[in-house]
Amino acid sequence: METRHNFGSKIGAVLAAAGSAVGLGNVWRFPTEVGNNGGAAFIMVYLLCILVIGIPVMMSEFLIGRHTHANTITAFSKLAPGKWWRIEGVAGVFVAFMILSYYIIVSGWTLYYLIQSVSGRLMADRDYNAVFDTYVSDPWLPVLTGASFMFLTHFIIARGVQSGIERFSKLMMPMLLFIIGILVVCSFGMPGSKEGLRFLLKPDLAKLTGSVVLSAVGQAFYSLSLAMGCLCTYASYFRPDTNLPKTAAGVSIIDTMVAVLSGFIIFPAVFSVEAVDVTAGPGLVFKTLPSVFNIAFGHLPWLGYAFSGFFYMLLLLAALTSAMSLHESVTAYVLEAFHMSRRKAAAAVSFSCMTLGVACSLSFGPWSHLTLFGLNIFELFDFVSSKIILPLGGIVICLFTGWYLDRSLVESELTNGGKLRFRLFRLYYFIIRFVAPLAIAAVFVHELF
Ligand code: PHE
Repeated sequence: METRHNFGSKIGAVLAAAGSAVGLGNVWRFPTEVGNNGGAAFIMVYLLCILVIGIPVMMSEFLIGRHTHANTITAFSKLAPGKWWRIEGVAGVFVAFMILSYYIIVSGWTLYYLIQSVSGRLMADRDYNAVFDTYVSDPWLPVLTGASFMFLTHFIIARGVQSGIERFSKLMMPMLLFIIGILVVCSFGMPGSKEGLRFLLKPDLAKLTGSVVLSAVGQAFYSLSLAMGCLCTYASYFRPDTNLPKTAAGVSIIDTMVAVLSGFIIFPAVFSVEAVDVTAGPGLVFKTLPSVFNIAFGHLPWLGYAFSGFFYMLLLLAALTSAMSLHESVTAYVLEAFHMSRRKAAAAVSFSCMTLGVACSLSFGPWSHLTLFGLNIFELFDFVSSKIILPLGGIVICLFTGWYLDRSLVESELTNGGKLRFRLFRLYYFIIRFVAPLAIAAVFVHELF
């Protein structure tokens, strides 16, 4: 069996974990949720959720991973030998596998839009709804773009923890932050930027309903990559001197910054164009934005190519670093459980995920008639994973750390055996035992019924 490596540096560990968190959820799902839930009021609640629930749950995943130095399934078996808790590890790896198989398809769409932007085809005056619908329902093209994206992810994972994940995260995360900077500045220069900013910054408290609060909790979980075994797996590569509470805070700050800045990029641009609906939903990035780019830069097409090219590049980088963590969560298990080489384990995961990915992609075209409870294969994967397994997993992680594990083990892991001070430990412990599991349970019941 291969020797287990750790991340070589603290910054490498933070950037890898932040890469997992920053993904399509920040640049695509967050602005959609903000648009649907009334702007600034949603953002306020979201920030609170990150602080009160997200960071403590992330710390719990970190401590489970770092304490055991193993993949997620083995981690639970080691901490609770012979007990049912192991099922949580199995669910985490399973859900990562499921999410990866459709995540690569959506990431493939981003790759396609990047190529279309850079080649200038996206800016030619067209009907963007038709462009998107024709592309995703094609039997071959989205499979091809998805497979290319899977190949990129595979290439990085097969290289291992330090020269794959860590090295590429250190390269891609600064690029991503740089692109965001450029886009925010460009977006502020657009004519509708004032209105966009007002939408993002001025909370209308009348819009704060129960459903807004619950959407915010759900978005916080998704965006921070919680309950999927990804952060647990990455934490198993953390060094013994890594400060877990600080790392969790750092990752959450980067993730939240990227989400809010994505709002600052998208809304001023969208408000610059009349008759474009901010509540456009999932089509915002692939249908609405191209037409915004087109209208806003109609007189300066080269600026349009650049802006949209940078935007889809941003989306692609964000998706890639997240896909890496999903892939690693499964690969680490296959590699350690079946005593395989990393290359073979990664190839087995890439191949089987891609097979499921083909089914997800075809569900927009030739297989669109295959449905269960009115959901096609793609929607079913998303529903089962993010609406059922994830919240349940979140609750189990809280109960496991808060009620099953010894308090002394938890405290010792979070303070590196007493070497660090963690003044908020009692608050953390209270949240993880009571506040977080109850809040997640509320989301679960709300989302499902
Ligand atoms: N957090 C990622 C995002 O914001 C999604 C993701 C979920 C990534 C689970 C990895 C694991 O898009």
